[in-house]
Amino acid sequence: MSMDLNPFCKSTRFAGKKLHLGLGGSVACYKMCDVLRALLRLDIQVSATLSPGAREFVSPLLFRSLGADPVYDEMFTDANVFAHLEPGAQAQAMLIAPASANLLSRLATGSAQDMLSAQFVAFAGPCAIAPAMNPRMWAHKATRENVKTLVEWGASLIPPALGDTACGEQGRGRLADSGEIFLGALRLLAPQDMAGINVLVTLGPTREMWDGVRYWSNPSSGRMGGAIATCCWLRGANVTAICGPGINVFLPEGIERISVNCANEMYNAAKDAWPKANMGFFSAAVADFAPIRPENADDVKIKKAATPGNLEIEFSRNPDILATLSADRGNGQKALGFAAEITPDMQSLLPLARLKLNAKKADVIAANRVNPASGAFGADDGSMAVVDAQGHEEIWQPQSKADIAWELCSWLLRI
Ligand code: CTP
Repeated sequence: MSMDLNPFCKSTRFAGKKLHLGLGGSVACYKMCDVLRALLRLDIQVSATLSPGAREFVSPLLFRSLGADPVYDEMFTDANVFAHLEPGAQAQAMLIAPASANLLSRLATGSAQDMLSAQFVAFAGPCAIAPAMNPRMWAHKATRENVKTLVEWGASLIPPALGDTACGEQGRGRLADSGEIFLGALRLLAPQDMAGINVLVTLGPTREMWDGVRYWSNPSSGRMGGAIATCCWLRGANVTAICGPGINVFLPEGIERISVNCANEMYNAAKDAWPKANMGFFSAAVADFAPIRPENADDVKIKKAATPGNLEIEFSRNPDILATLSADRGNGQKALGFAAEITPDMQSLLPLARLKLNAKKADVIAANRVNPASGAFGADDGSMAVVDAQGHEEIWQPQSKADIAWELCSWLLRI
């Protein structure tokens, strides 16, 4: 499930927020059950409205049973004559997913003829819309115009995906990936205190090839960097993520993703992106050395018969991305690096982090323990020792990588 592959499925920063979910008539309604559950797991209070079309596909009881409260359906009932005004008064954000062509048309004309379109007109907060329909309906000028109108009014569009649609056709029309919708909803609820800030994040391992099939690397999962990239994006920043190979993190499409393999490729990509960045988060576990490769190494698999005894490989030094870019900082650029150390306790991380801060000329170093028993690589939770160039230092209790990312972004914003 793509939502679980983003560290924000464990954030505590959204607890108590209120979101209204509107469902239109589409076979994709069933996909919203998982999104709803992921939002509820973050202790977000979710109310929901099923349009008349949505009620043909799924029942209000399903969403009530999963934990949405309240769940609205009919407009004209005696029970609560002002129900169409409630989300506008109570929820901080509205997510409309799936939005059928018919629902988009009702929203874009402010028709208010059914509960959901009336609640939409009575809602002044941030809203995101995830359409789902047949590809020809999505391509039609009428739909294009409706979407254009809604975006002009301030709605965020979570565009439909390419692929097979339920009607048996292929094209753009499938409801966006659940991870996109989940994070799109969180973005509506997040403070936009990083709006206008350009952020560069390096994440994951690097892979230093020795021959065509063998490499030198490390088990970095990319989850810390994925949490930071996502956090910055949720808070409104423009994010470029330079990702090492094989990482298992879902990133929303709004993040520009550059995939690289080895340290040199990561260095070149980071060097190109750095001049326009206001902040850099260097979380990648970059291999410090790369095997010196035989000639035409990409095209061969070196045979063991060629080395009768022990194998000796010589390594050359890779560029230090953080140190080089930190030393080349322009006006107001801030750099945050990580330190992965084996220490007896958290306290002993602080002097090592400060050494690394000075050596790399970074603004902040966040250090964690990678003792073999701690499982820091790939774990969802971790402790951190954080130091900055102004002399501040803190030790943080174990918490999710999403929460660590949130605090590190706030730290960099503050200094
Ligand atoms: N880093 C980098 N480029 C490298 C090596 C490290 O950008 N070639 C960055 C990492 O992304 C991290 C920080 O430097 O933010 C610290 O990395 P770490 O591996 O802990 O430290 P090293 O400098 O490699 O030193 P050592 O392995 O000796 O601790």
